[in-house]
Amino acid sequence: MIHNKNNILLVEDNTEHSDLIQRAFKSRKDNMTQILAENVETARNVMSKMQIDLLISDLILPDGKGVDFLKFSEKESKAFPVLIITSQGDEVAAVEAMKLGAMDYIIKSPETIEDLPRISTRVMRDWDNIIRRKKAEEELKSHQDFLEKLVEERTKQLIQSERLAATGRLAASMAHEINNPLQGITTHLEIIKRFLPENFKKIKNYNIVKENVEKIGNIVKQMLDIYRNSSREKSSININNLISKVVSLVENQVRINAIDLKENLDESLPDILGWQQQLHQVILNLLLNAIDNVEQGGVIKVSTSENDKSIIIKVEDNGKGIPHEDIVHIFDAFYSEKKDAGVGLGLFVCNGLVRNHNGEIIVTSEEGKGSTFTIILPKGK
Ligand SMILES: Nc1ncnc2c1ncn2[C@@H]1O[C@H](COP(=O)(O)OP(=O)(O)OP(=O)(O)O)[C@@H](O)[C@H]1O
Ligand SMILES: [Mg+2]
Repeated sequence: MIHNKNNILLVEDNTEHSDLIQRAFKSRKDNMTQILAENVETARNVMSKMQIDLLISDLILPDGKGVDFLKFSEKESKAFPVLIITSQGDEVAAVEAMKLGAMDYIIKSPETIEDLPRISTRVMRDWDNIIRRKKAEEELKSHQDFLEKLVEERTKQLIQSERLAATGRLAASMAHEINNPLQGITTHLEIIKRFLPENFKKIKNYNIVKENVEKIGNIVKQMLDIYRNSSREKSSININNLISKVVSLVENQVRINAIDLKENLDESLPDILGWQQQLHQVILNLLLNAIDNVEQGGVIKVSTSENDKSIIIKVEDNGKGIPHEDIVHIFDAFYSEKKDAGVGLGLFVCNGLVRNHNGEIIVTSEEGKGSTFTIILPKGK
């Protein structure tokens, strides 16, 4: 940066030359202060004490070389341009100095010394431009890095959600395809049974077939649930009423297990548009999971609240919690920790249904302390 007054450090051991140079600067009345040093050591001393805007140095000094100063300039905080002055015959060395980073060199003569203030101003201006350009380039680079990272992240998210959507579509179409032959099997099983003699010995095997067919039917139904109704019009839903309905469905299980089921519903919660049956299913699945995972006498809390953009439903329990490494899997299809009892579709379906509403489910859990499932649903249309 060119300040109002520029500090020029002149490093020159030849007093005759330094006198001439200083006189040239004085006669110009330029806004420059010259500081004279006769060797590298004194120059270093000066540099450690004050900001230098330009260093003019003889190529060869009693205790070193003019190019030595370039190393100081490399340090960003000390950055300053270096102008080499040299005697006739040292041009090759001067060019070398430029390769190392000196801004320019001049060969000492009465004319060039006379012209030194003008050259100095030019060198400082060029330097200033270089620094500015460097800064702009760095800023640009950091913006580019930021953008690249952003694009990379968004791409990952897109791929992830596209993959989920594709899995969902595949699951739904498979469920649809499986459903038809399954209906056939169920119907014909009934017909077969009618033709079996009353004392048929293999009735146990028959029942196993029937139970398994029913199990498949259940899976298929849940898969289809994600997409069913979504084509219909949404309707206005009072979430608090919906929760009360679902709670009354599980009352029996709650009582049997001596669970304390608390409701903390925000009375002023606005209605939202959605598919009643789907949200019913979501809340039911979360409540059933909570019931399954609390001990006798456990506590489950269902609460609703709102913020500017969303309504929030929370299902909290003080049950066994979910191990940290399992949390990423619980929304996967067919992931279940319930050995035989669970199919592992509850949360997969919940996730699909909440996504149908452009919402999201967040889970926080601590092993041994309990879990909280938070559903965030956008308000409005
Ligand atoms: N409230 C909870 N506390 C502790 N673990 C939970 C809770 N909710 C879900 N989980 C874990 O997530 C797994 C997956 O849940 P999900 O509802 O998808 O399947 P499931 O309950 O095992 O079977 P399904 O719901 O199909 O009968 C559960 O097996 C359980 O390990
Ligand atoms: Mg479940």
